[in-house]
Amino acid sequence: MARGTVVQKIIEAHFVEGSRETGKPVAIRIDQTLTQDATGTMAYLELEAMNVPGVKTELSVSYVDHNMMQNGPENRNDHLYLQSVAAAKGVRFSPPGNGICHQVHLERFGVPGKTLIGSDSHTPTGGGIGMMAIGAGGLDVALAMAGKPFRIPYPKVIGVKLTGKLSPWCAAKDVILKLLSILTTKGNVGSVVEYFGPGVATLTVPQRATITNMGAELGVTTSLFPSDESTRVFLKAQDREKDFVPLAADPDAEYDQVIEIRLDEIEPLAACPSSPDNIKSVRELAGTKVGQVLIGSCTNSSYRDLAMVAMTLKGRRVSESVTLSIAPGSRQVLEMLARNGMLADIIASGARILETGCGPCIGQGQSPADDTVSVRTFNRNFAGRTGTKGDQAYLVSPETAVAIALTGEFTDPRTAGIEYPNVVEPEVFEINDNMIQLPGGSGEIVRKRTIGAPPVNQPLPDELDGVVVIKVGDKITTDHIMPAGIHLKHRSNIPVYAKVVFECFNEAGRPTFAERASAVRDSGKAGIIVGRDSYGQGSSREHAAICPMYLGVKVVAALAIERIHSANLVNFGIVPLVFANPADYDSIGENDSLVFHSLRGQLRPGEPVRGELTKADGTKKEIVFNHRLSAEDIRIILAGGMLNL
Ligand code: F3S
Repeated sequence: MARGTVVQKIIEAHFVEGSRETGKPVAIRIDQTLTQDATGTMAYLELEAMNVPGVKTELSVSYVDHNMMQNGPENRNDHLYLQSVAAAKGVRFSPPGNGICHQVHLERFGVPGKTLIGSDSHTPTGGGIGMMAIGAGGLDVALAMAGKPFRIPYPKVIGVKLTGKLSPWCAAKDVILKLLSILTTKGNVGSVVEYFGPGVATLTVPQRATITNMGAELGVTTSLFPSDESTRVFLKAQDREKDFVPLAADPDAEYDQVIEIRLDEIEPLAACPSSPDNIKSVRELAGTKVGQVLIGSCTNSSYRDLAMVAMTLKGRRVSESVTLSIAPGSRQVLEMLARNGMLADIIASGARILETGCGPCIGQGQSPADDTVSVRTFNRNFAGRTGTKGDQAYLVSPETAVAIALTGEFTDPRTAGIEYPNVVEPEVFEINDNMIQLPGGSGEIVRKRTIGAPPVNQPLPDELDGVVVIKVGDKITTDHIMPAGIHLKHRSNIPVYAKVVFECFNEAGRPTFAERASAVRDSGKAGIIVGRDSYGQGSSREHAAICPMYLGVKVVAALAIERIHSANLVNFGIVPLVFANPADYDSIGENDSLVFHSLRGQLRPGEPVRGELTKADGTKKEIVFNHRLSAEDIRIILAGGMLNL
């Protein structure tokens, strides 16, 4: 077990109950929560269902940043609900236009040494300021707001030792892409990445936040940096020096695993389609024609990032063969660029300025043309996330993105003949919190017709007569399970949103997944989903559990299930099982029957679960599954989910 690490110190300071043994559940007190609108409506509906009069955390903030397009009333209906329920329950509200949750939280609310859970998988952005910041499903966030502790497996700590200093045009984004090339997106469940070493001091808080943000793609519980002089400087510039506390690992700290990254050896990198760990150097890709460049997202839209972009674009013209669109991460960033004239330099170059928010990162507009290479400073490039089928999305740093925008093709910025702009971090940021709405008021909650209620589940049956409704392959993301984009506006209306579960697997002439699952449910049987490796990776989208639950799914069986998704399945009464013998994955097919006798009795911590598989030709076989469910998880599943409990 790791000793003397920052992670261990924060857990110790927030320890409620549980084990200090790696992999065993530990419950920690949560100081802060954040929600965003895509997951937040369900989180607050769940909080309401718990009859909690007001939140019990030190600070909770509700952000609107994902769904701001108002092409129909649904999104604005959600915003009004979120605004009113925040006021009624003691939550601060950050309305559309104020910025992306992680960027604003880092600027205005993040505090070193505190715990934060957020209903968004990139909540670990807060690790850049020394928080233990974890992404979770909306229901877990609702429970934290209700004052309940949050359970995680006691983490394995991967220490990443940084030495040296980044060279010009080589960025924090390249550091995390490098780490993704080493650790990949698979096999890191239950770990925390902690950065240490002399290279840490050379990185500013926004640079560190880029690194911890995209640590989410590793599948780890969170990533974090120590809190040091850079942290104090950042907080002072945000007029929050009083929030600074130093936080460092002991000099003799022991990590479970150590990886060394020499910052001076980092070169511009790109994550190629369609996985964040499919890494190549920009050098290797040089000359590849590009049709679209997008700069923004919670990974790369800090003041530093966009000031560098503006200084590079100044006096130049974006290539005629690309569109360049830029979404500032927060109103603070946009306002500062507007006041110091950099916004004018960006506009004059031919770039398009998008609204401050997630925008194209969540498929809200800017889908690329067919057969077009799209280069993004975002954190995810899963197939189809852009909104275009067969998309070719690459993830790069803002430094690389701006060089590509000027040339229209993959260009190593070090060789583009442009002088590296010397961005000076502001000594004082533009502080203007006038959009943050404080709780209070009449307490009346605005509930328009599109605001539904969380669906009700039944307790887990003892005899589970299941049918495999779908069998999928490796790396199925929550985007595959529950598409976002234009469908996201139905997130508060589960019967409507559930119609598009696994939409990307639907085939012409065959009933959709939703139709097949409903038919199984209505016949009195249970739906079963079979997945392969890293099932449920990606976002914290709990709709990827709620909507299958609504359609009657009771079991997900896979070779491996990602942490947040597994927790969401438990919260909504779906049993997450792992094949004890991976070869059994090949034995199972769609429409096969899988019966679990005495399932309620079979579910015990650490004990296998046996199911009886019957193929269409009548052949039978016993299949053994493992799970990582704690006694508490099992209690939740038996009740049919956390809300029932
Ligand atoms: Fe938003 Fe994309 Fe981040 S959807 S929260 S900018 S990953």
